[in-house]
Amino acid sequence: MVNQSLIFARAYEQEAGSRVSPSARPVFHLTPWTGWMNDPNGFSYYRGQYHLFYQYNPYSTEWDAMHWGHAVSKDLLHWTYLPAALAPDEAYDSFGCFSGSAIELSDGRQLLLYTGVRKEGGDKGKEYQTQCVAVGDGLNYTKYPLNPVLSDAALPEGLSPYDFRDPHIWRTEEGLFRCVVGTRRANKLGTLLMFSSPDGFHWQYESVLAENDGRFGQMWECPDFFVLDGKQVLFVSPQDMLPEGFEYHNGNGTVCQIGAFDRDSKRFVMEHHQAIDYGIDFYAPQTILTPDGRRVMIGWMQNWDTCKVTGYEERPWFGQMSLPRELSIRNGRLYQQPIRELKQCRSRRVEYNNVPVDGPLKLEGIEGRCVEIQMHIRPEDASNPFIKFTMRFAEDEQYHSMLSFRPYESLLKIDRKFSGSRRAFIHQRRCQVADRNGEIDLHIILDRFSIEVFINDGEQVMTATILTNTSARGISFECDGRAVMDIVKHSLFSED
Ligand code: FRU
Repeated sequence: MVNQSLIFARAYEQEAGSRVSPSARPVFHLTPWTGWMNDPNGFSYYRGQYHLFYQYNPYSTEWDAMHWGHAVSKDLLHWTYLPAALAPDEAYDSFGCFSGSAIELSDGRQLLLYTGVRKEGGDKGKEYQTQCVAVGDGLNYTKYPLNPVLSDAALPEGLSPYDFRDPHIWRTEEGLFRCVVGTRRANKLGTLLMFSSPDGFHWQYESVLAENDGRFGQMWECPDFFVLDGKQVLFVSPQDMLPEGFEYHNGNGTVCQIGAFDRDSKRFVMEHHQAIDYGIDFYAPQTILTPDGRRVMIGWMQNWDTCKVTGYEERPWFGQMSLPRELSIRNGRLYQQPIRELKQCRSRRVEYNNVPVDGPLKLEGIEGRCVEIQMHIRPEDASNPFIKFTMRFAEDEQYHSMLSFRPYESLLKIDRKFSGSRRAFIHQRRCQVADRNGEIDLHIILDRFSIEVFINDGEQVMTATILTNTSARGISFECDGRAVMDIVKHSLFSED
């Protein structure tokens, strides 16, 4: 059954979405059909295609009244918009259908498990967050009449019904449904609770899966929990992080914890932790297992702290998804690679090898705003490396953004302060990379409004959005000292 608010939202988005020119959007990073987008939701493979839902306000480019937007794809790169899946239209979710996940039921229907938020005590009142279910066929979803399926009654003593959200659902080998939900204690520290269910509708509390000891921000949002290369992996997106060296940065961050699941205590035991992304714009990732067995992640390519100031008011959409990334564990660390389907979207290869760089340099055929660049940089003399190697992109006479690498400090920096921004928000971030005697491998994916840099075969990734006018297409290099570069560039999606 589709009710009035959803019918209205669907009619609105179809009309408003058709007015957004494709040239005003990124080429292959998903944006909302119209209005605002935040977290990926319900990322799944269902009935022969990938489904990606998202936190969505169709009516404006600001966060409000969360719906679930919906898009499908065969290759995770070409997306088709479907009508919105959920609108905030019941008493228990009237303040918003917040983040959640999706799973296929034994009878072939798809179940969405999401956070329903209601407000008590008027506009300034308190938000109550509960977990709710909707079931559908990949297009239309019906909310379960007995929602919510997990309310404050399900919370152990001392945990917050005001911050109780973002259920991540999976199925065990024995066929049991499990979910992990974020909440927090009175001291604000995030706690992840695990629940189980025989059918996806009736849930009971199992355990505290993991807890924040104060090291990783405060409240933990958007957990994901999966097995990868024989290890148990937990993703969380903590709020209010304090930086720790170069590993984490202030604000809302992402943490990957690698460890084991202790079946007796039903607790996760952490052995290693690291940031998932070392750039500026990445949050709330979700993963899926593809039919051919790959663990693929997609995140919200945005930073909460810059939502209001990024100049998006000139655009008919706000918010982008990252490139889907293939995950693996090597040497106990999380590695990421651009999804391999991207290779099929390459054209116009340009390659140069052993190029000396000892001042400013431009190379014929290396330019564009929708391109993939793979480069290897090394000092001409390993015993006497260069001071700094710089690559500028999205460049014209007025604007540019840049990546710079300092081998003596093993630091890679991303800098967008000349990207056209008129505001004093975060423009730079530095990432400590592996010391490889002054050498570095960079695999760079540029779309119209973003850069994703896969460092040293995906050992680290830095992501940032830029809003530079797309006519700034230049790419150039510079070295303080003497470097040697191998570079391969492809155009993507026959653009550029
Ligand atoms: C994370 C988040 C989630 C919440 C959603 C609301 O970005 O705050 O915790 O479910 O966004 O839109």
